[in-house]
Amino acid sequence: MKSFPSFVALFIVCSAVLGKSDTQAVVTLEVKEGNSTCIKAEFSAVFSITYNTTNDTRTVSVFLPNSTTVDSANSSCGSNGSTPGLMAKFGPGHYFGMNFSTNGSLYSVDTLFLRYNLSDASLFPEANSSGPVDFELSASVGIWAPTNTTYRCLSPTTITITRPSVTFSEMKLEAYMPGNDFSPAERVCAADQTTTGAPTTTTSAATPTTPSPTPAGTPEQGSYSVKNASGTVCLMAKMGVQLNVSYFSQSQNKTVQELLNLTPNLTSSSGLCGGTNATLVLAQEETTVLSFLFTVNSTSNKYHLSGITLQANWTDMMSPFSASNTSLDYLRSSLGHSYMCNAEQTLFVVSTFSINMFELQVQPFGVTSTQFASAEVCQIDQDQMLIPIIVGAALAGLVLIVLIAYLIGRKRSHAGYQTI
Ligand SMILES: *[C@@H]1O[C@H](CO)[C@@H](O)[C@H](O)[C@H]1NC(C)=O
Ligand SMILES: *[C@@H]1O[C@H](CO)[C@@H](O)[C@H](O)[C@H]1NC(C)=O
Ligand SMILES: *[C@@H]1O[C@H](CO)[C@@H](O)[C@H](O)[C@H]1NC(C)=O
Ligand SMILES: *[C@@H]1O[C@H](CO)[C@@H](O)[C@H](O)[C@H]1NC(C)=O
Ligand SMILES: *[C@@H]1O[C@H](CO)[C@@H](O)[C@H](O)[C@H]1NC(C)=O
Ligand SMILES: *[C@@H]1O[C@H](CO)[C@@H](O)[C@H](O)[C@H]1NC(C)=O
Ligand SMILES: *[C@@H]1O[C@H](CO)[C@@H](O)[C@H](O)[C@H]1NC(C)=O
Ligand SMILES: *[C@@H]1O[C@H](CO)[C@@H](O)[C@H](O)[C@H]1NC(C)=O
Ligand SMILES: *[C@@H]1O[C@H](CO)[C@@H](O)[C@H](O)[C@H]1NC(C)=O
Ligand SMILES: *[C@@H]1O[C@H](CO)[C@@H](O)[C@H](O)[C@H]1NC(C)=O
Ligand SMILES: *[C@@H]1O[C@H](CO)[C@@H](O)[C@H](O)[C@H]1NC(C)=O
Ligand SMILES: *[C@@H]1O[C@H](CO)[C@@H](O)[C@H](O)[C@H]1NC(C)=O
Repeated sequence: MKSFPSFVALFIVCSAVLGKSDTQAVVTLEVKEGNSTCIKAEFSAVFSITYNTTNDTRTVSVFLPNSTTVDSANSSCGSNGSTPGLMAKFGPGHYFGMNFSTNGSLYSVDTLFLRYNLSDASLFPEANSSGPVDFELSASVGIWAPTNTTYRCLSPTTITITRPSVTFSEMKLEAYMPGNDFSPAERVCAADQTTTGAPTTTTSAATPTTPSPTPAGTPEQGSYSVKNASGTVCLMAKMGVQLNVSYFSQSQNKTVQELLNLTPNLTSSSGLCGGTNATLVLAQEETTVLSFLFTVNSTSNKYHLSGITLQANWTDMMSPFSASNTSLDYLRSSLGHSYMCNAEQTLFVVSTFSINMFELQVQPFGVTSTQFASAEVCQIDQDQMLIPIIVGAALAGLVLIVLIAYLIGRKRSHAGYQTI
């Protein structure tokens, strides 16, 4: 190995990916020594972190922000016998790092590190403790590639760091780099190799004795809210939520599709409110964590549901299920209004996961009282309101036609009698 000058230059290029909300950014991080780049990583990440308030336990989704930078003091190319690693820092005292190792022909991520600062009230409102909390996972996390090859995984991949978890997506990464940019050769992760990024359900009529998924029925409507740091409600939602998930069943040894209704009194809500984005996180008994991300389009003065993430660890799952899509455009409504839809709506997230929504009313921005602001009603409901009017009008028209026909008929038959 050449001995580089001691100066370690590090820099970062952040880019918001087109069509993504500004909340879930794809960041590009580079560790450099002299003029040469040794580690380059490009990804978006969302952390699911559980913390305690005085009264309860909350789970929040923390997005690795656009403004993430490389922490040069704690990153290294691995010269002088140190471990090669990338340490990113974001916000007030949050860190996320990965260390690498190699055997000459393969390299891999062998440690993930997360430090979050509970004193950050914007991410962890009402936390009952303060200061940094560290988590480290020293294990093979499945991120590896042959030397001189870029690791690529655009599909969302969740890794649990003992208790919190991190979900990567749109990831490209290379360590021990031969040049200053990604090697053209790529190792593509398994999730990306199926064309749609996920296996499709293969339940066929060939096995009629398959135990059918539990009949879920219509989900109960729950009322959920998010409070801001000063304890006032800043996001309100009422809805019945039914998850439709395809996963690999351990007992049946095949992919099954299951409907799960969220039970409101077993579901806790948490989240974050912001001027241009807001999250609602619904957690049912630690086995199901569902996050909604709402964003404002300041040019059109409208908001919409732009992202949905699900993490599920149900009993029969071969491995925990994770799916995320942050380029959605659902429930669009004007700022200052709530959005309402009584009819069932299906929100497609990824090929293996969709949500059926029932009796929905939500207001993620501009909540000023405990009541929803006036609602903008979805198109289906508007159409359904028209149906009684149309049916009524049609019936009236029919009665009129019958009456006219009868009168004409009477006149005709009178005329008939006269000619005889
Ligand atoms: C490597 O070690 C030498 C001597 O200990 C030191 O001068 C140099 O700055 C170190 N280089 C790096 C990149 O830390
Ligand atoms: C994110 O990055 C983009 C492009 O670099 C920039 O235009 C935008 O202002 C950034 N957003 C934030 C919140 O920093
Ligand atoms: C929401 O947007 C604000 C500024 O636009 C940003 O500072 C904050 O990090 C965003 N929140 C999330 C969860 O991405
Ligand atoms: C870095 O590149 C510049 C210009 O290409 C060159 O002058 C300089 O010597 C290089 N530094 C090192 C350490 O290679
Ligand atoms: C929250 O509190 C419970 C019991 O009070 C404790 O067992 C748990 O470890 C705490 N969780 C965190 C993340 O601090
Ligand atoms: C905790 O619970 C008590 C009693 O239920 C309530 O008075 C108090 O406001 C709660 N505190 C917070 C921070 O929610
Ligand atoms: C980064 O390095 C500084 C100085 O060596 C150290 O105090 C700090 O704890 C390190 N941070 C992390 C996250 O390792
Ligand atoms: C990687 O590429 C560099 C430069 O092209 C070359 O020197 C090295 O032998 C390659 N390593 C492997 C394992 O192919
Ligand atoms: C699961 O199915 C595959 C192929 O269908 C078969 O090879 C395997 O043995 C099965 N495993 C179990 C545990 O039944
Ligand atoms: C939740 O609600 C159902 C029906 O409303 C009730 O049967 C059940 O006991 C409740 N469970 C808890 C933990 O409150
Ligand atoms: C915001 O709204 C304007 C006007 O409706 C539209 O042209 C633009 O694409 C929207 N931007 C985003 C990020 O959705
Ligand atoms: C999923 O659940 C099983 C059994 O409840 C547990 O052993 C496992 O640690 C859980 N996995 C994750 C990633 O939480």
